[in-house]
Amino acid sequence: AAIEKGGYDHFMLKEIFEQPQTIHDSLRGRLDAPKGTLTLGGIREHMDLLKNAKRIIIVACGTSWHAGLVAEYMIEELCRIPVEVEYASEFRYRNPVIGQGDVIIAVSQSGETADTLVAIESAKQKGAIILGVCNVVGSSIARMSDAGAYTHAGPEIGVASTKAFTAQLTVLALIGLKVAMERGSISGQRFQHLLNEMDQVSKKVAIALKLNDHVKEIAEKYKDARDFLYLGRGYNFPVALEGALKLKEISYIHAEGYPAAEMKHGPIALVDENLPVVIVATKDSFYEKVVSNIQEIKARKGKVIAVVTEGDTTIPPMVDDVIVVPAADELVAPIISVIPLQLLAYHIGVSKGYDVDKPRNLAKSVTVE
Ligand code: G6P
Repeated sequence: AAIEKGGYDHFMLKEIFEQPQTIHDSLRGRLDAPKGTLTLGGIREHMDLLKNAKRIIIVACGTSWHAGLVAEYMIEELCRIPVEVEYASEFRYRNPVIGQGDVIIAVSQSGETADTLVAIESAKQKGAIILGVCNVVGSSIARMSDAGAYTHAGPEIGVASTKAFTAQLTVLALIGLKVAMERGSISGQRFQHLLNEMDQVSKKVAIALKLNDHVKEIAEKYKDARDFLYLGRGYNFPVALEGALKLKEISYIHAEGYPAAEMKHGPIALVDENLPVVIVATKDSFYEKVVSNIQEIKARKGKVIAVVTEGDTTIPPMVDDVIVVPAADELVAPIISVIPLQLLAYHIGVSKGYDVDKPRNLAKSVTVE
């Protein structure tokens, strides 16, 4: 087993560190940034349906649902097609309105999650076309789909999903870019810029992984907290949800993810000197707003751990702990900003003595509804 873990203490840490490679694998044969081309063989035949979609509905569970939320922001911005993101279990049981011209994107690492499988089965019967974004080749959801793109992250053993998530974000970004290009909803210049950004992302993830020792120190400092709050806005809002989920899954600490601006409608009541607040505050269109959110938390003596962009001189003096990540376009930033949150959950779980690869009560793949 030690050999399988490639020298790492746990599969989860190995998989976190594999991400520069797995992202590269997700892009291989698809993205050629210098040539300005993007090829997605698995959706080519369905491109007419896709680019003319009246609506896109993303169905998923767990971490894959968080990837879907990021994709909602990406696809609406790039393609100007309305997108809804649904928990597969809810979507399935409420007799949703679906018809011709609707495209369903099912996102699933295992491709075997029963709720997601059943949801696409019924949507298919109602005439929707199904696109699968799965990691496991030949899995049930992949086979049930009309078209799709594999994430190619390789086998994920740790129950808490890490490399599959960043691979999903990568592939969903490629799908958004491809459809936008075909629809003509993106300028040639922005398209090329984002191809270049995608091309750089695995290198930036490798840089973010160098934060490991620093994040471990932060983990030691806060591991005894009873609750955590995770905040982010825009593209980083789902990253906050994912950071909170990772912490819950493997450290058994209660954690809540929230859109930063929504904090004032509830969670702010919880803020005191005992509450660590992880806030994803990278430089993007919401940056100034997030700075005000940090001030609101500090005014109530909350402990702030901020994920910021390199070169930021405003936030560091305001907060308790700083995690600096490379700059990136906001559309690809989640792939980078989630890395320190994965590491934080990992180190807190390990420091509390838990088996992070096999957290209690959880399964890698949930094949019951
Ligand atoms: C389980 C796993 C999660 C995963 C979710 C969805 O709850 O523990 O890590 O995100 O299922 O799984 P899927 O294979 O459909 O992505």
